[in-house]
Amino acid sequence: MKAFVCEKYGPPGVLQLRELPTPVPRANEVLIRVRAATVTSGDRRVRAFDLPAGMRSVGRLFLGWHGPRKPVLGTELAGDVTAVGKDVSRFSVGDRVFAFPGAGMGAYAEYRCMPEAGAVAAIPEGLSYEEAATLSFGGATALDFFRKAGLRAGEKVLIIGASGGVGSAAVQLARHLGARVTGVCSGANRELVRSLGADSVIDYTRQNPGVGGDRYDVIMDTVGTTQAGAGATPRGGTKPPQDLLELLNPGGRLLLVAAGLAEMLRLPVAARWRGKRVIAGPADERPEYLHQLADLVRAGAYTVFIDRRYRFEDIAKAHGYVDTGRKRGNVVLLVDTAASTSAHDGVLPAT
Ligand SMILES: NC(=O)c1ccc[n+]([C@@H]2O[C@H](COP(=O)([O-])OP(=O)(O)OC[C@H]3O[C@@H](n4cnc5c(N)ncnc54)[C@H](OP(=O)(O)O)[C@@H]3O)[C@@H](O)[C@H]2O)c1
Repeated sequence: MKAFVCEKYGPPGVLQLRELPTPVPRANEVLIRVRAATVTSGDRRVRAFDLPAGMRSVGRLFLGWHGPRKPVLGTELAGDVTAVGKDVSRFSVGDRVFAFPGAGMGAYAEYRCMPEAGAVAAIPEGLSYEEAATLSFGGATALDFFRKAGLRAGEKVLIIGASGGVGSAAVQLARHLGARVTGVCSGANRELVRSLGADSVIDYTRQNPGVGGDRYDVIMDTVGTTQAGAGATPRGGTKPPQDLLELLNPGGRLLLVAAGLAEMLRLPVAARWRGKRVIAGPADERPEYLHQLADLVRAGAYTVFIDRRYRFEDIAKAHGYVDTGRKRGNVVLLVDTAASTSAHDGVLPAT
């Protein structure tokens, strides 16, 4: 099978096309012919070894010293089941599925095995492979942080980075849970974030959250505004929010989807003194999140936003675009171009 491998950390050009053995499913696994995958912020972080401040040493231990130990990157995919192990009962050959290998990676390949009890679910009727491939990474991350925060109907939520992969999912899920949602994004993404269900929008290039005295029960930071340095300085020259804990109501929860090690150690202590809570670290990758997301799609309560589509062979261009940090929602890789439902010619515009 064809796969893109990343044998050393570096710029998008380190991704190289290789011929690898097609995997054979174990007794409890399904073999999926990958039709579409995505390029997420997680893929580019691993490829570039661009980890949050303070995490580089431990990152080499976990990911690999000179290059990723799992050289086929790609955290989410959609395709068809083409073979099943002898103990598999939930899936059959021909089923259309989406899957979330997550930290296990391996979606940048024509085939990927997944345990049938793992993060794999049927594609909701009416959804294309391209759309289904984008369901897991942002959606599962947002669901996990909201679950840990115990987000309740009627609470006020601030989502920083509301136009990104995680943020665009979080806006919809918070809204679905009955929260009142304020999204923080640039002016160019205002309409997108409103269309996803935000009650109000703050353009971070013009205004800092909290300036008007607004306070929130839950703040999700997907940008890393608490970090000194990378990701902390928004475009447009306005200052980042100074202290997100100050913007929380008593009992409020700060969700650090992106943060450096220093903030992850310091802020929970500071929060406890003020009767607030910080939730940080990697999101749990629970299979049930895929079923929840698929059910929400079926109920018309969740949609996906595709910013750009790239052919599989243009994977370096796709990574280059995600490297800009300016992607909106999701970037799709057409692993099997023939299975694409959209007309395409290299880089494709938003749907
Ligand atoms: N903890 C976990 O388990 C976990 C899981 C998934 C992701 N993450 C991390 O979460 C972060 C976000 O991931 P993602 O996939 O959502 O990234 P992404 O899709 O690449 O985010 C890009 C978006 O961020 C917006 N943005 C950039 N600076 C901003 C600012 N100062 N204020 C508001 N919006 C801003 C950009 O909009 P403009 O172009 O308009 O600025 C763009 O739409 C990454 O650091 C990723 O590593 C963590």
